[in-house]
Amino acid sequence: MRRRKAIALTLGIGGALVLGPAGFYGYRLAAAKLDTVGEVAFDTPLAVPPLAEPTRDPSGAKVFDLELRSGRTQFADGAATATWGVNGAFLGPTVRARRGEEVAFTVRNGLDEATSIHWHGMRLPAVMDGGPHQEVAPGETWTPQWTVDQPAATLWYHPHPHGKTAAHVYRGLAGMFIVDDDADLNLPRTYGVDDVPMIVQDRKFDGDNQFDDGAPLFGALGVIGDRVMVNGTLGPYFDVTTRLVRLRLLNGSGARTYHFGFGDDRPFSLVATDGGLLPEPWETDRIRLTPGERAEIVVAFAPGETVDLRSYPSDIGGPAGRLDGFADRLDVCRFRAAERLGEGTEVPAAMGAAPALDAAEAAAERSFTLGGDKINGEAMAMERIDFGVRVDTTEVWEVVNDNGFLHNFHVHNVQFQVLDVDGAEPPPALRGWKDTVPLMPGERNRLALRFSEHTDPNVPYMYHCHVLKHEDEGMMGQFVVLGEGEEVGEVPGAHAHG
Ligand code: C2O
Ligand code: CU
Ligand code: CU
Repeated sequence: MRRRKAIALTLGIGGALVLGPAGFYGYRLAAAKLDTVGEVAFDTPLAVPPLAEPTRDPSGAKVFDLELRSGRTQFADGAATATWGVNGAFLGPTVRARRGEEVAFTVRNGLDEATSIHWHGMRLPAVMDGGPHQEVAPGETWTPQWTVDQPAATLWYHPHPHGKTAAHVYRGLAGMFIVDDDADLNLPRTYGVDDVPMIVQDRKFDGDNQFDDGAPLFGALGVIGDRVMVNGTLGPYFDVTTRLVRLRLLNGSGARTYHFGFGDDRPFSLVATDGGLLPEPWETDRIRLTPGERAEIVVAFAPGETVDLRSYPSDIGGPAGRLDGFADRLDVCRFRAAERLGEGTEVPAAMGAAPALDAAEAAAERSFTLGGDKINGEAMAMERIDFGVRVDTTEVWEVVNDNGFLHNFHVHNVQFQVLDVDGAEPPPALRGWKDTVPLMPGERNRLALRFSEHTDPNVPYMYHCHVLKHEDEGMMGQFVVLGEGEEVGEVPGAHAHG
């Protein structure tokens, strides 16, 4: 039994000001604040994506078979929803590999349109990256292969076809990619028991239980759903059996930002961000994730208690930010602790290595201004390589949000260091390795990046806003990593397309 979502018709000052001449806009603004706390039934066990089962090829590589399929998923009572998934009808299995391992994939496109699978956060050759230059036609199979070489981290995979990423992710193509390494820390590590993947996404359903991809009128970011699902489960609960639980939170939404915290404001330890473990745990009671970002947190539970993970309002975007969900308060997942909990160890005091790129040594400085669906005034073009970075040099990139909407900035093939946020020291959540950095309206952030392998003068990697509608509309550019003495080349096939 699911109760109807509740919409709080709160006429705040922002709403009242625009009522009058723009009465309809004012109504939209006022109606846009959603509060589902206490309204979600939490009556469905949280689905835990299965671990993909690799085979070994003769060379010893782990081979994962992924098939992109269309299907139907029963999210709620009534009609099943038409969805896409990987090896199933919705979302995909969790891929897991250790640092140093060779991984190989067969990605078969069983859909009736071209798409791609991109390995978000992974260091890998550009031809294996799965961006818009590696689209897989219907019925075809793509076979990328590379050696995993980066610290343990929660990465993910999702489609990246030119101009259609938002729609393909919304239909259900996404999964987690967990990298393990040998830094054997005392963190909870039993998958699905005390180490829980949480792919958090919002959806809207139409009267027929089908995904509604209509974006809010006057909204700036794309589809904002009024239902939150975790791993494809609406109203999920998770039965806690150990005192400490590690949650791998992934914002798998295309537009919505989550500001996670618990119903009783209990503190938790943030232990990892996009690129892996933080130098030390940071105790907090809130963690904000913009689309594409990840965070690993460790939470302590008491025997027999029940506590809910929520998303709280985030102070972004002024009054109009309500249209894009920033004022919403949402129930996300209920945790129900058993009467007896297994003991775990404590969260280690020292974890990953702190990023320490030397900005003073930067071989190049670049500036990227995001606004109007463009970066530096230019929309993404498949055949245009915007620049080349020299392998094994450090660069400093300044990223600027010069309009009134939320953006973020994601770079393929690298984990970078945030040097400063609007001139100030980054907050603890941005002090570890990142591949996606939030960019609040008006903000100017500086990043240090170093590309130490995988040169290719012709095949580009992407950098873009991870608000998927913005990416699709052209807020994206392309760069190549150049070896010694190489110059920027030409995208293969660029001329064939005119
Ligand atoms: Cu998560 Cu270019 O992507
Ligand atoms: Cu990516
Ligand atoms: Cu954007």
